[in-house]
Amino acid sequence: MKQLFIALAMATLGLAAVPALAQSAAPMHNDTLYQALGAKPGLEALMDVFVPALKADSRIGAQFKDTNAKYLQEQLVDQICMVSGGPCAYKGADMKAAHAGMEINKAQFNALVEVLQGAMDARGIPFTTQNQLLARLAPMHRDVITAK
Ligand code: HEM
Repeated sequence: MKQLFIALAMATLGLAAVPALAQSAAPMHNDTLYQALGAKPGLEALMDVFVPALKADSRIGAQFKDTNAKYLQEQLVDQICMVSGGPCAYKGADMKAAHAGMEINKAQFNALVEVLQGAMDARGIPFTTQNQLLARLAPMHRDVITAK
């Protein structure tokens, strides 16, 4: 009888503990990175630096010569807001379609990452935050890079 009681008590406690644990270990919505990037105003300020720097870059700037900077900045703010856990919905083209036919290679992808790092440095974004964002963008290389 005593054993049955203990088993029942443990089962009850177990059931109660599981949702609480799940919540603390894997929050449904984690916007830590978004906040570390300065939320929407921080992302807007970052893109104000990044997009002109892209256009000015000697390696890949030419690829953006006909690009509407304002449109690209808005898309990037929404996209990075979303991937960093912020409350935005990216409505631009998916990464495969957006870069189709551009023949982007690995060196050009890396050049864009370097320009982004420079922009994040200029905005005073801490190194760990920079790396967290880059880690979330890195898998996109599969859709962006289409040339050797
Ligand atoms: C992780 C890497 C990258 C991300 C997150 C990214 C993101 C984006 C986004 C959000 C757009 C706008 C899509 C739309 O039209 O709705 C875009 C367009 C574009 N991207 Fe990328 N991109 C990446 C890498 C690159 C690279 C490496 C290049 C070339 C060196 C590049 C060149 C362009 C160009 C030329 C456009 C088109 C702009 C236009 O319509 O004029 N992107 N990208």
